[in-house]
Amino acid sequence: EKGGFDHFMLKEIYEQPKVLEDAVRGRMSAEDGWIKLGGVSEYINKINSAKRFIITACGTSYHAGLLGEYLIEELSRVPVEVEYASEFRYRNPIISENDIVIAISQSGETADTLAAIEIAKERQALIYGICNVIGSSIARATHAGSYTHAGPEIGVASTKAFSTQVVILTLLALQIAEHKGTITTSYLRQVLFELKNIPNKIKETLKLDAQIQEIAEVFKDATNFLYLGRGVNYPVALEGALKLKEISYIHAEGYPAAEMKHGPIALIDEQMPVVVLATNDSAHEKIVSNIMEVKARSGKVIAIVNEGDTEIAALADYTIAIPQTEEILSPLLTVVPLQLLSYHIALMRGTNVDQPRNLAKSVTVE
Ligand code: M6R
Repeated sequence: EKGGFDHFMLKEIYEQPKVLEDAVRGRMSAEDGWIKLGGVSEYINKINSAKRFIITACGTSYHAGLLGEYLIEELSRVPVEVEYASEFRYRNPIISENDIVIAISQSGETADTLAAIEIAKERQALIYGICNVIGSSIARATHAGSYTHAGPEIGVASTKAFSTQVVILTLLALQIAEHKGTITTSYLRQVLFELKNIPNKIKETLKLDAQIQEIAEVFKDATNFLYLGRGVNYPVALEGALKLKEISYIHAEGYPAAEMKHGPIALIDEQMPVVVLATNDSAHEKIVSNIMEVKARSGKVIAIVNEGDTEIAALADYTIAIPQTEEILSPLLTVVPLQLLSYHIALMRGTNVDQPRNLAKSVTVE
């Protein structure tokens, strides 16, 4: 049932190229330049006139939500708020019938997310669900939505579900933007072609597994880890830290790279591994300075870069070089080495990778 893999988590990491194809099947065509998410088309007028989107979720799904904020605001210029479902539900949130609430949940059974949906429904918002489990409570409670089609995710640490959530949010943002006319047809095609290519680029990234395993060996006894990223890769930093915490029990924090100087920099010494998401995007030069700040304090830098980045290779202790893609799609690739790094570290520390202590696959208690 693990398809020849030692753990479900590893199997699910390796399934990502396939499930991303499943997630977009019938929903877009790069050649013909169209997108059609079932749930969106049905409510397009309401979605188009929305004054604001509110995304609510927990854990990894919340990290996908943070990416959703970036994508929808960047592409369609509509304001987005993202909130932990557990906070949202208890603070008498301001919601009206002009808002669209997007609830994201792999299991579709998370109690806090379900409760947040009920509140938003009472206040007449349209609820759009992004769920993996078909017929789940959240899928049934929403007005419209899209399934992620990641297939069953057994490992408690979410991996392939996250990638498919991000793909759905990308399609959603593009479809809204296309309808609003905030992106050009040529840009749309360019992104869709890149999206179509992402499964192949994930396959390329997975080939770095042996190298990542060697890096894991070096850092497996660390007691703390810092993950830094900017822009779209900031939520990926949060996600990388969460993966490590959950399965290896190493304390890890994700930070926007520029925030480091406002506090966490005090933690940096030769014992501190810092994973930096440093792909060739608009923040590249800034990230180079952040790496220098870490190195000046003897921190150990593991940088996720694009192939051919000699500038960062000369600065970092370890570089993991992944293929280049469109900036907004970069998280779909940068998250993969972070999933593998936490998997290998956990394995080397002898923890139960698929069923970490104190955690359940779906949190149905409040
Ligand atoms: O099923 P959901 O997506 O609603 O679950 C939300 C979180 O409980 C979940 O993402 C959790 O953080 C995972 N164990 C992360 O790997």
